[in-house]
Amino acid sequence: MLLWTRYVAEAETALTWQVSETEDFAKPIAEGSVAASPARDWCAKGVVTGLSPDRWYFYRFLAPGGAASPVGRTRTLPEGPSATFRLAVFSCSNFGFGWFNAYGHVAEANDADLAVHLGDYIYEYAAGTYPDTGAANPERVLAPTTEIVALTDYRLRYATYRADPDCQRLHQVLPMIAVWDDHESANDSYKDGAQNHQSETEGDWAARKAAAKQAYREWMPVSDAPYAAYQVGDLATLFRLDTRLEGREKQFSLETVLAGKTDPQADIAALDAFRTGEWANPERQLLGQAQDAWLAEGLAASTAKGTAWQVLVQQVLIGNLKSPQSLYAQIGDGLPDYVRQRLTASAMASKAGLPLNMDAWDGYPAARERVFKAALAADANLIVLAGDTHNGWAFDLTQDGAKVGVELGVCSVSSPGFESYLSTIKPDVLAAALVAENEQLKWADTAQRGYMVVELTTARATTEYRFSTGVKQRSTTLAGTKRIATDKGSGTLAV
Ligand SMILES: [Fe+2]
Repeated sequence: MLLWTRYVAEAETALTWQVSETEDFAKPIAEGSVAASPARDWCAKGVVTGLSPDRWYFYRFLAPGGAASPVGRTRTLPEGPSATFRLAVFSCSNFGFGWFNAYGHVAEANDADLAVHLGDYIYEYAAGTYPDTGAANPERVLAPTTEIVALTDYRLRYATYRADPDCQRLHQVLPMIAVWDDHESANDSYKDGAQNHQSETEGDWAARKAAAKQAYREWMPVSDAPYAAYQVGDLATLFRLDTRLEGREKQFSLETVLAGKTDPQADIAALDAFRTGEWANPERQLLGQAQDAWLAEGLAASTAKGTAWQVLVQQVLIGNLKSPQSLYAQIGDGLPDYVRQRLTASAMASKAGLPLNMDAWDGYPAARERVFKAALAADANLIVLAGDTHNGWAFDLTQDGAKVGVELGVCSVSSPGFESYLSTIKPDVLAAALVAENEQLKWADTAQRGYMVVELTTARATTEYRFSTGVKQRSTTLAGTKRIATDKGSGTLAV
């Protein structure tokens, strides 16, 4: 068990951590020491071993003068036969857009065993960029006000986010498995760069990536392992993946594919050549070879020991998602030119058999096929968790007609979804058009914020989407819920 705190002092300070079965710490059952030092921005992590499986514990930190931290609560994973386990899954918590009501709700509901954050825990932009000044919540003042590039910038941004009361409460009452997505470094990052990194003015990408990783590992309750597996009794193996900075090659851009083409015939020819050429390149990497091999071995080992579910805890959608070709006709007037241009391009790509988002697994079909084939070879009951899009998605996953498993994409905590720029299309019309266009897609919600709880039993996995009543006001009231289940061995969702 990893315990996290932050303690700012005049100089490096030795803290004592304690673990107790009772909240009053009358009889701590484990104790140890860890240093809080400026080298780690005063963040400190204690690692506890020897705890009993499948139970709640309390923990705290003590400073040399006797001052005690607030009491935290955490939980060990079960071992062996287990009845149920519940994951509370989050992504895309942008401070500037509003309150983290999803975090507040799960703390109050008190019905999850583990929090899982799929990335975009912070955003790197300058104040006034995303959100722009019109969309920014005036109660949410960002620091630093500039885009974060250097180590000190990243540290200060984490400090801002982690001062949020609902974020603090979430971490106080639940353990977390977290993965970074792009915005913990820079938008649309990959191994060797990012869309939102300009080396002429922002310096070397390698230095920025190292700063982003360091601040994340200081400020988040995580180990330094780039990817890892966690065994949840006989219920599940959770595979925490890095689809961003470990092995990802640069994203494709349809603008580049279409550059210099001046008529529709040339556009179609270029898209066809791209689809059968570069896009389908069997060598293309998202996880990288080492992580690919590790995951394939892990999936096989998990099913070999009779584990019910194999769960990918990762960033981006793996289901095939194309833009509805019918959409362009429905958008009507009143949308800005850049949105129209984007829709025209995505409708054209869809017509050519190409996906909506080249930054997701859809831009790396060979890498996806390797994972799907490994899951089929292992006879896995695969559940893929994904964030990144700000919208809710549920897919049945297939490979050459074979059922691979299911995917649940979680809506964002606070970042805006499709509704913010497709304002002239009703969300239910958009969701229906997306489901009609995409064979694997069973359900979508394109307009609500929130989180989801995935309840695992050996026979069934049931996901409940919990929608917040917006993010403008701090509130734990839900606007509604949606339940989607899958039976073990079915490889399909009951929507
Ligand atoms: Fe995001």
